[in-house]
Order: sequence, then C-alpha cells, then structure tokens
Amino acid sequence: MGIILSLLNHKGGVGKTTSAINIGAGMVVLGKRVLLVDLDPQANLSLSLGIGRQPTSLYDAMRGEADLAPVTVRPGLDVIPSNLDLSGAEMELINEAGREYILRELFEPMQDAYDFIIIDCPPSLGLLTLNALTCSDFVLIPLQTEFLAMQGLAKIKQVIQKVKLRLNKKLEIGGVIPTMYDSRKVLNRDIVETIKKYFGELVFESYVRDNVALAEAPAQQQDIFSYNPTSAGAEDYLAVCQEILSRTSQPVE
Ligand SMILES: Nc1ncnc2c1ncn2[C@@H]1O[C@H](COP(=O)(O)OP(=O)(O)OP(=O)(O)O)[C@@H](O)[C@H]1O
Ligand SMILES: [Mg+2]
Repeated sequence: MGIILSLLNHKGGVGKTTSAINIGAGMVVLGKRVLLVDLDPQANLSLSLGIGRQPTSLYDAMRGEADLAPVTVRPGLDVIPSNLDLSGAEMELINEAGREYILRELFEPMQDAYDFIIIDCPPSLGLLTLNALTCSDFVLIPLQTEFLAMQGLAKIKQVIQKVKLRLNKKLEIGGVIPTMYDSRKVLNRDIVETIKKYFGELVFESYVRDNVALAEAPAQQQDIFSYNPTSAGAEDYLAVCQEILSRTSQPVE
C-alpha cells in the first residue's frame, strides 16, 4: 500500500511545490510509482508540469460529482491536477459531514497502485490542508533557510498534533527539509542550527541548495531530472528521496 506524504508549510514560497514535484520525479528515477496531487487552487504544480484544465477536476471529485482522474506525465508518474475552482471547496464543504475525510476516502482505492502519493498543500491551514493531513502517513516540512523561517513552526506542530489526536492517529512528522540553502551565508547556517535545536533528528541531513535550475525548470514545464539531471538541484532532491526512503523504511532499489 502506497505511503502518503504531504508537503506542508503555511508560509508561502518556501519550496513546497518545488519539493513535491522533484521528490515525486526523484522517486520515479528510483523506480517507484508516484501520484502527485495538486491541492493548491493556485495550481502551481499542475502548471509547472504543463498540465492544463481537464474535463473533471479534483474539486469535482471532492464534491462527489466525478471520479479522480490522474493524468499520466510519463510511466511511473501520474498527477491529479488542480485549478482555481478548488478555492471554492473550503467554503462549500464546510458544512459537509466528515469534511476532513474526503481526500482519505478518494485515495483509499488508489493506494495500491502507487508506492507514494505526494500532496502539495496550499500555503494555509484550512480545510484542504486538514484533508491532506487526515489522509497522510507523513508530513514533510520544507523550510527556507532565511530570516523569519522559524515563524509559524509552533503553529504547524500544533495543527499536526491536533490532527493526530482527533483525525489521524498514524500521522507523523517525516522531517524538515531545509530549502534554498546557501552555505556561504552565515545566516543560512545559523538558521539550520536553530531549526535543529527545535526539531532535532527530524531535520533532514540532505539540504536542498539554492539552485537556479530548480527555478528555471517549471518554465520549461519539466521537473529537475528531465530539465537538468546533472544540476545541484537534481543531486539534492535525489538525496532527499533516498533519505525519505530510509526514514520511512522503504527499500532502495
Ligand atoms: N532550491 C531552490 N533554489 C532556487 N529557487 C528555488 C528553490 N526552491 C524553490 N525555488 C523557487 O522559489 C519559488 C517558490 O518556490 P515554491 O513555489 O516551490 O514554493 P511554495 O512553498 O510551493 O510556494 P506557495 O506557498 O506559493 O505554494 C519558486 O519560484 C521556485 O522556483
Ligand atoms: Mg506551492
């Protein structure tokens, strides 16, 4: 049965989408079957992989009006894309019984078809994010090693603890992934040390360096392994994938 990972940080622009795409693509390089889920109405993940509007959407599926319809990007890599309609879901589903369990129900029948289902969360802690946490095995927290990075971490921890207590007992923090890391900057190094004091062993040993290829790839509608497999970004995300496999006790092929 596939493992469900959510990329979560309600702070914007910290590398959630970049990490979701490239962890997904990296896992495919390592021989895993992956479903990427774009849970952000901004649809950055879908657009970054060149997936436009589909006949039915995640929003339709969440409202019970359609089945989930994964789009195959290449063998081993499927995507459930998003569009702006999804922004209506938070409001529309608010009075629905079991509203936090909608995604869990939708993914349950698909879990055997994939090794990993990877969810790109929006930069908020609303109902969509709660749905992601309720169906996840692990939360991965990308954290930009910049000033104010720590702000909001207590809130994330609190939300995860509440979901674990009330909605999903199996939920664990899979780790904190430092992103856009520049070892030349003392500030970046200091921030990683501070994060380690707060999260301890949960901080990944693999950091994702600041790497322009990672920012360029979406404009070419590619992941980093297709766009520039020899870049620092590809090297770093492959290391992150290997660390995820060992942290979640999955065999490395
Ligand atoms: N390691 C990196 N090196 C250089 N640029 C990066 C790196 N990671 C992400 N970026 C760039 O930083 C910007 C923000 O990244 P991304 O969209 O992944 O963040 P996000 O957390 O998903 O944002 P949002 O909260 O808006 O969904 C993007 O332009 C992306 O290309
Ligand atoms: Mg994003």
